Amino acid sequence: MQGGDAERGKTLFTDPALGGSKSAKSCNTCHPEGKGLENTGGDIAGTINACIEKALGGKPLAADSKEMKDLVAYITSLKK
Ligand code: HEC
Repeated sequence: MQGGDAERGKTLFTDPALGGSKSAKSCNTCHPEGKGLENTGGDIAGTINACIEKALGGKPLAADSKEMKDLVAYITSLKK
């Protein structure tokens, strides 16, 4: 995916309000510093939305939204 900003994605990753969620959790609560996500492959955007809906109780992000591109860029940047 083109045009994502990994730095901005990292900020979103720690933002509890992502996807309009009202929970106090952020992605970082369950995946501290992105730990365990280094080998993520396949449909990264789909996995992110699954976690936003099920884990955060938020609304899924559009695949072509700036937020989704930034989050995908951040998670892709974790790959070793
Ligand atoms: C309540 C805990 C929780 C929260 C919050 C959460 N996740 Fe997850 N996530 C999981 C679990 C459990 C799995 C599946 C097991 C695993 O791979 O760690 C998972 C899996 C993933 C994977 C796939 C990992 C792999 O090995 O392929 C990605 C990518 C991911 N989450 C991203 C996110 C993002 C981005 C957010 C924030 C929008 C988020 N998660 C929020 C619990 C959570």
